[in-house]
Order: sequence, then structure tokens, then C-alpha cells
Amino acid sequence: MPEIDDSKPISAYVRRLWRPFTLGTVTLALTNLFDILTPFALMKAIDAITASDSKKLHEAIGLYLLFMLGTVAFRYQWRLHFGKFHHSVAEDLRNRLFSKYTRLGPTFFEKNPTGELMSLMINDVNTFRMAVGPGLLILLDAFFLIIFIVPFMLSISVEWTWKTLILLPFIPFVIRFMENRIATASRDSQDRLSEMSGYTQELVTGIRVVKGFSQETQRLNSFRVFSNRFATASNRVAKYDAMFEPALQIGVATGSVILLAWGSRDVLSGAVTLGTFVAFHEYIKRMVWPMAAIGSGLSLVQQGRSSYARMAEVFQAAPDVKNLGRTKIARFESLRVENLTFTYPGAGHPALSNVSFSLRRGETLGIVGPVGSGKSTLVQILGGIRPAPEGCLFINGETFENLDLESWRARLAVAPQDAFLFSRTVAENILFGRDAATKINGTENTDKSSDENSEPQDAELLEAIAHADAVALREEIDRLPLGFRAWLGEKGVNLSGGQRQRMTIARALAHTKSADFVILDDSLSAVDGKTEASVLSSLRRKNIGSDEKKESEITTLIISHRLAAVAEADRILVLNQGSVEAIGTHFELLKLSPTYRRIHELQSETKSSGAEPKRIETEGTLL
Ligand SMILES: Nc1ncnc2c1ncn2[C@@H]1O[C@H](COP(=O)(O)OP(=O)(O)OP(=O)(O)O)[C@@H](O)[C@H]1O
Ligand SMILES: [Mg+2]
Repeated sequence: MPEIDDSKPISAYVRRLWRPFTLGTVTLALTNLFDILTPFALMKAIDAITASDSKKLHEAIGLYLLFMLGTVAFRYQWRLHFGKFHHSVAEDLRNRLFSKYTRLGPTFFEKNPTGELMSLMINDVNTFRMAVGPGLLILLDAFFLIIFIVPFMLSISVEWTWKTLILLPFIPFVIRFMENRIATASRDSQDRLSEMSGYTQELVTGIRVVKGFSQETQRLNSFRVFSNRFATASNRVAKYDAMFEPALQIGVATGSVILLAWGSRDVLSGAVTLGTFVAFHEYIKRMVWPMAAIGSGLSLVQQGRSSYARMAEVFQAAPDVKNLGRTKIARFESLRVENLTFTYPGAGHPALSNVSFSLRRGETLGIVGPVGSGKSTLVQILGGIRPAPEGCLFINGETFENLDLESWRARLAVAPQDAFLFSRTVAENILFGRDAATKINGTENTDKSSDENSEPQDAELLEAIAHADAVALREEIDRLPLGFRAWLGEKGVNLSGGQRQRMTIARALAHTKSADFVILDDSLSAVDGKTEASVLSSLRRKNIGSDEKKESEITTLIISHRLAAVAEADRILVLNQGSVEAIGTHFELLKLSPTYRRIHELQSETKSSGAEPKRIETEGTLL
């Protein structure tokens, strides 16, 4: 299939989907030809009537009927083929956009608001569809009508033709002027629409915060401003659109008046028959539509082009991390991080500087450090979500750039700090992504669960239950009305913060069916001490869900603000303002790291006073 050239998207799609396009065009041309022939039959009929020739009249009626039927039959055909053409274009665009969204990294999504990305998928795709569907169609229709009508007119009278169509050459200039106005106005209106839908999206997702801060009225007022801007911009488009057709129609309608003034004299003098006069008038009337249509067609195409330009920006956006390597990682053996420094785009100072450490299969590494010290950044770099400078990361001794990223990600079972869940059942959330990982590892999963929309089967349900058990969540889920088949609201709103966190750990554990490197990014911050201890002990025993894994099979990286979660790790890394302050065991760090010692002292105090340990705020303030 030919690639789509982003600078010439319309012709590229015509080439790719040439079959329905060609069939549509040919049947459209035939429809127009038959349509143009009907005034010819009318002319014959009128002349037969004036000559009182009933034989000729019958012939003319037969012809008229034939041309009408031809028009109807071919009209059905072109509608069918053109419909197929533009709907296939829209489908392809939606798939290309979605696939690009899945490949782009966080930098892109941080820069582009969700509302705008949604609007691209829905409005811009539709605007482009309108350009290649109705837009192109109108232009082709106009083209065929003109090239069929004009010879008929010329064959009747060259003088009548030039006199009645004299205003025609001005029309392209009017079109050019209007087209530019409409394009600018519609670009502006699309931008306002994206702005407004982005604002709505933010309200819907952040409704709890909005209500919590009593910001409803303020939000509504701002929304009214956005909504009004969109309405004003849409009105501007409507204004230019409204001018279009009347402006063009005036030009062509003048033709009719001219014919009546000049042509009727030729009929009266007997130089031309009445039938010819009527047929000619029919042709002038038929010229009104293509002339007006050229304008709307061009405006649709213009709007489609600007929508495509917006989509092309997404198609051309580069992912944060390029997946160019070939080395597949089928089993995790070792990780080495050497002098890793990372700065977020546009940030003044690095989030990580000169971080070095290593980890072998089966080990547990704890990471602690104040808020903003770079812990989550490190996890994202390890997961290939943010780019690491070349030569800083080595997996199984191989440099990161040479890895097949998908195979590496399939090794990882990550419970991210942001406990995001999908609007699906509890069981489906726990088993999310497990099949994809199994496929990547070559043990193709053929059961029904590989279908996104299928409900988990009994065996899978048991597996989900086992994982929930491992994170001390089973009883709480059982208490939900439908238990493991309970439907979660958007982002899991009907679960508590702590339950959501444990769901993400259970989801990560379900992944260990194929993955062998577990990463928990502050995943126990919203659970009580007892639950935390129970989750950690099942992790420590490597008792992952239904499978009792051997000690050496799972490597674990635990980020936590609470030392209790990492105290038993083989090694603990203390991060402070992006740098490694120290690495060692719990007891070594108590001697080596002032930060670690302070956290320890603070948490021992809170423990003895019975309060929940606090999050580590900033260096030197609250640790
Ligand atoms: N997307 C981003 N763009 C720019 N800067 C960022 C981004 N995410 C994080 N940072 C900055 O990078 C630094 C490290 O952030 P990171 O999220 O890694 O901290 P953390 O140690 O995980 O903190 P916490 O304990 O609060 O989870 C912070 O200074 C933060 O402001
Ligand atoms: Mg973090």
C-alpha cells in the first residue's frame, strides 16, 4: 500500500484507494452526461409539440425517460463508491492517529492538551473526510457538468453562449478571495473548538478538585468565555459561507436575463426553435449549480487541508525514545546504570545527575529520597519511557540503545505512582496487558481473553483473585456488589486511593507470569502499615499470585517514602536532589547517609507516637 505523503494527502489517498475513487468518478461522469441529455430530449419534445408531430413526440418522451433512468441508476452508483472512498479515508486516518498516540511518549502528551488530541481524532478527521468526500465530489461534479454543458450550448449558438456566460471568468477571482477568508476563519474556529473541549475535559476529570475548592462558578464563567469565542469564530465562518453562493449566483443568473433579452428575438424571427430556446435556458440553469459548487467544494477542500496539516504535526512528532535496537531480552539478568544524567526538556536543572548503581537477577533494590528527588524519573527512564543519554544504561551487559524496547518492556511489571485504572471490571484491570506480554515472549496465548472485549473466564478469574490475595485486596473486592466482576468507574473512581494502589500492584504481579522485574513506585503510600507489611511479605517470598516463584526468578525495585518498605532490601539507594547520596543495606545507610538517618529517626518517632509516617518533604525541612 503506498505511503501517505503528508504534503499531498488528498492525491495520496486517491492513489491508495484508487478503485472506489475511479468507480465513483466514472459513474458520476455518466450521471452528469445523462442529466445533460435530458434538456436535449425536452427540446425534441417541445419542437415535436409545436410541429404537432406525435411520432417525434413519442420518440422524445422515450428518450427523456431513458436519460432520466440513466441519471437515477448512475447516481446511486457514484454515491455508493464515493461513500466507500471517504469513509475508508477517515478510518485509515483514525487508525493512523491512534497508532501514533500509542507510540508517542509523555513529552508529547504534556505539550498537547487531551481535548485537542480528542478533537483531532473526531473533528479534524471528519473535516478531512468532508474534503475528500463531498469536497472532491462537488468539484468533480462541477467539472463534468461544465465540460458537458458548454459544448451543447456552443452547438446551439456560439453568440448566445458567450453572451450568457460572459461573467464566468470573474468567478475564479471571487472564489479565491472567499476561499482565503473561509480558510482563515475555519482554522480559527477549529482552534476555539479544541480550546473549549480541552477545558470541558479538564472539568470532567478534575471535578472533585473543582468542587473541593468551590470553583464551579469561576469555571462556568471561564467556560462561557471559551464557548462565546467559539460561537463568534463559527459565526465568522457562517458569514463568509453565506456570501458565497449568492455572490456566484448573481453572476450566472444574469445569464438567464441576457438570454431572455437577446435570445427571445431569435425565436420570434424564426431563426431558432422554441425547443432550442428552452433547452438553452435549461443549460444556463444547470450552470448555476457547478459555479456555486466550485466555491463550496474549494472551501471544503481548503478546510480539510488545514485539518490535515494539524494531524500531520502529530504524524511527524518524534517519540521520546526511539525503538531502533534489535537485541531481544527474553530474561532479565542484570542492570547497570552508569553516570546517568537527565534533564526534562525546558527544565533549568537536571532531575537526575550522575546516578550509578547496578542490580542482578533475584535481588531487591529499595530507593528512598525526598519528594522530587528523581525517583519516578529514574523508573520512567528504566522503562524506556523517557530517553536516557547514550551509554548510561546496560541490560544484561547490552547497551540500552541496542535493545528491542518492546521485549525489554515485556520484562517489566510496573506499578506506577499514578494509580490509573480503566473503566472495565476489577478482574480485567488486574489481568490487563498480561496477554500482550505473553505474546511478545513467544508463548502465544490462544484463549478468549486475548480479545479486548471478552470477559475473563473462570480460570482467569481465579488468577485475578490470587493476585488480589497477594496484595491483601481480596476481601475488599469480594465486598463489592459484583465482586471481581464489578465494573470500575472512569479511572477506578469507585475504589479508595489505597485500593486503587493495590489494584495496580496486583496488575503488576499478574504481569509477572511473563515479566521478571517488578517495579513499585511509591505504591504503598496510601495503605496502612499492616496491609503494607502483608503485601511486602508476599513480594519477599516471591509468592506472586497463584505461582510460587523461586527466589532467583523475580528482581524487585521498590520506591517508598517509608523505610519499613525497603529496610529488608538487599541494597537501598538514597537519592537526594537527583544525585545518589549513598547505597547500602539498612544498617550501612544508618551510618553512611545523613538523609537516611534523618528519615529513620523521624519515622521511628512517629511510629512510637502512633501517627502515620509523613511523606518526606524536602531536604532539610521535613524528612
Ligand atoms: N514531566 C515533567 N516535566 C518537567 N519536570 C518534571 C516532570 N516530572 C518531574 N519533573 C521534575 O523532575 C524532578 C524529579 O521528579 P520525580 O517525579 O522523579 O520525583 P520523585 O522523586 O518521584 O518525587 P515523589 O516522591 O514526589 O514521587 C522534580 O523536580 C520535578 O519537578
Ligand atoms: Mg515519584
